[in-house]
This record gives sequence, structure tokens and C-alpha cells, in this order.
Amino acid sequence: MSTPPIMDFSGQVVLITGASRGIGRAAAVQFARQGARVAVHYHSHAQAAAETLAALPGEGHLIVQADMADAEGVRRMVDSVVQQMGRLDVLVNNAGIYEDHPVATVSYDEWQAAWTRTLQTNLVGVANAAYCAARHMMAQGGGRIVNVTSRGAFRGEPDAPAYGASKAAMNSMSQSLAKALAPHGIYVTAVAPGWVDTDMAADYLNAPGGDAIRAQSPLNRVATPDEVAYTVLFLASRGAEFLTGAVVDVNGASYLRT
Ligand SMILES: NC(=O)c1ccc[n+]([C@@H]2O[C@H](COP(=O)([O-])OP(=O)(O)OC[C@H]3O[C@@H](n4cnc5c(N)ncnc54)[C@H](OP(=O)(O)O)[C@@H]3O)[C@@H](O)[C@H]2O)c1
Repeated sequence: MSTPPIMDFSGQVVLITGASRGIGRAAAVQFARQGARVAVHYHSHAQAAAETLAALPGEGHLIVQADMADAEGVRRMVDSVVQQMGRLDVLVNNAGIYEDHPVATVSYDEWQAAWTRTLQTNLVGVANAAYCAARHMMAQGGGRIVNVTSRGAFRGEPDAPAYGASKAAMNSMSQSLAKALAPHGIYVTAVAPGWVDTDMAADYLNAPGGDAIRAQSPLNRVATPDEVAYTVLFLASRGAEFLTGAVVDVNGASYLRT
């Protein structure tokens, strides 16, 4: 068997949701470095998305906007990528939100609002993007979907139970779709990071409890966005097909599943 060209995405089109900042931006840069044309998705930070686009080597990249909680917006986003870029080889479902809603302190209205917002964005929106992408990938004979989930799916999220539930459901959805889409040549995987040094984590990492968070890992630090992005690229690469259905931890041994 000849060795496949690992991490070569030349000629491929990659749509990364939430690529305006954090992990998504790091993945966009890494995919572009490996020859991909990248669709940089954002929700509300247009300037940040423009900065991601400007940081991408190569040509043929573009920006798309959508609220992941808006089913029609998600469909328009995926369709416009295929229309403008001609195909879709990889979907990275990375956009997500985290909000605290501790059961002991929030009102019932706040509780419901947090669950609705979180599940619509992190789960239903992700499922919709996977559906729309899969239809194009089926028509073109294959593709890859990588979902960015979280260690919280396994360890629990006491202050943000909707977030933990959304990520556990994303893992389960990844496994279901890996089985359903394998006959169509579409491989589906998930990456479950622990703490990552991004805007989402900044308030916690810069607070007095920041050192305790870093100490959760025996490496005594949190992940860089690049470390998570690297795993995303590996899972999307040619040669990684048999990892379909896998949920890969990127948490610096801070939480070891058995
Ligand atoms: N940081 C961590 O410690 C950590 C740990 C485990 C898992 N994760 C997961 O990793 C993924 C990326 O996180 P990150 O830390 O890079 O986050 P981030 O820096 O907060 O960036 C979030 C991204 O998601 C987009 N987004 C937010 N709400 C959206 C919505 N309603 N519709 C569409 N896009 C939306 C944002 O777009 P705008 O810029 O336009 O707002 C932004 O591009 C998330 O799924 C997160 O749950 C993060």
C-alpha cells in the first residue's frame, strides 16, 4: 500500500464554523497552509473574520456568515460555499457557545433560555450543518466532518449543564453519523478539548482560579488553539478514514476516560 499524503489538502474546500476567532481561526490557518481553500464562517464579529481571512496563505478563500441557531441561515451558508467554491470536502463544526446557568441560582426563565440557546447553537445548528454538508458530499462522492465537542461531555459541567449535554449529544451524533454516512464515503469524527486558551476561556483563565485550571493537567497549562486545530486536520486528512466514529481527547491528561 502506498503512503497517503498526510495533511495535504490541496484542491480541497474546507468550511470551518466559528473561524473568526480561537480554535476555528487556528484551524483555518493550518488548513490553508496545507493547500486548502477555506470558507471562514462567523456569526457577529465580521472584523475578526476579515482578520482570519487576511492571515490565510494561498488564494480562493472566502467569508460566510450565519447564526448557527438559524436553520435557514445554516442551509444558506453551506449552499453558498458550494456555489462559490465548487465543492465541499471538509466541514469543521467548531462554532459554539458556553454560558453559566447554575441550577442553584438561576431563575426558571434563565434556566430555560440557557438550555434553548445552547442546544440550538451547539447541537441543532451543528446537526443542520452536518445534514446540509452531507447532502453535497454524498453528491460529490465523499467528504469529512469533524465536530469540536468538549471534555465537559464526559466530566460534567456543573455550572453549565446545557453545554455539557450539548457536547455529549454532539459526540453521540458524530458516532451515529459515522455509521450512517460511511457507505457514502463520508467520515465523521469528534475532537473533545479540555481548556483551551481562547476568548471563551479567557475570563476563567485570567481570574484567581486560573492557576487551578492550568493545574488540572500534569503539563500545568491549557491547550493552545493550534494544538486542537492540529488534531482537527489529522482527523480530516487522507489516511485517517478508519478513525471514523472516534472521539479524540485533547486535554493534556487532565481527564482520562476509560
Ligand atoms: N476554549 C475552550 O476552553 C474550549 C474547551 C472545549 C471545547 N471548546 C469548543 O471549541 C469550539 C471553539 O471554541 P473557542 O474557544 O475557539 O471559542 P471562541 O473563541 O469563543 O469563538 C467562538 C466562535 O463561535 C462563533 N459563534 C458563537 N456563537 C455563534 C452562533 N450563534 N452562530 C454562529 N457562530 C457562533 C463565534 O463567531 P463570532 O466571532 O462572530 O462571534 C466564534 O467564531 C466551541 O465549540 C467550544 O465549545 C472550547
